[in-house]
Amino acid sequence: MAASGVKRPPRPAPASSGGMVRKLILALAVFLPALVYQQLQPPPPKICGSPGGPPVTGTRTQLKDGRHLAYLESGVPKDQAKYKIIFVHGFDSCRYDALPISPELAQELGIYQLSFDRPGYAESDPNPASTEKSIALDVEELADNLQLGPKFYLMGFSMGGEIMWSCLKHISHRLAGVAILGPVGNYWWSGLPSNVSWHAWNQQLPQDKWAVWVSHHLPWLTYWWTPRSSSCLQRHRLQPGPPL
Ligand SMILES: *[C@@H]1O[C@H](CO)[C@@H](O)[C@H](O)[C@H]1NC(C)=O
Repeated sequence: MAASGVKRPPRPAPASSGGMVRKLILALAVFLPALVYQQLQPPPPKICGSPGGPPVTGTRTQLKDGRHLAYLESGVPKDQAKYKIIFVHGFDSCRYDALPISPELAQELGIYQLSFDRPGYAESDPNPASTEKSIALDVEELADNLQLGPKFYLMGFSMGGEIMWSCLKHISHRLAGVAILGPVGNYWWSGLPSNVSWHAWNQQLPQDKWAVWVSHHLPWLTYWWTPRSSSCLQRHRLQPGPPL
């Protein structure tokens, strides 16, 4: 007898894999840009001395708008000083990265040095309303809070150099003199002859060229691009700071 009457069991319908793939692609299309965006954003700053924030270990002065600046004094007492110098540190630094002036030299030349954590660095509060001018006004207020008198000298190192320009523009009547040490320049400034800009550009280390290039052309990438190092205060706790 023929088995023609026996029916085969129906094949299972193929899974709708097309739909699954589409959903997966859609999820990735939403998830990946969100992840990338999150990676590019700096986290909110931790305020020193606030609940959940790092402790305050240094001496700080309060500005009129409520922010604090941490500072460090070295050299001879300011009322005996011939030169009262405010030192402005560069990138990834803090108040301990001031000029390492030996006590003998400070005594001989009559130097009082005041260095401070720039807003948002180490133990100084960030300034959410920071502008090109605000840092000059911060320097002036710091000098007044510490009673440095009508005039003082300024010294800016590396990326602290640009702050010298702001101070020369906005508080020049308070400045006895200004020194800019190894500043990071604006290599795109049209006021410099192009061969001079090019010469200066090539003086930089390769990693500094990249960092400056990224912050100029792709500023939104700057936070992600910048290497995370141990904090300046940690570095100075590991190795003693400059002779004070
Ligand atoms: C740039 O060019 C000018 C004029 O040709 C020259 O006098 C100057 O020395 C050059 N500077 C550098 C850094 O090459």
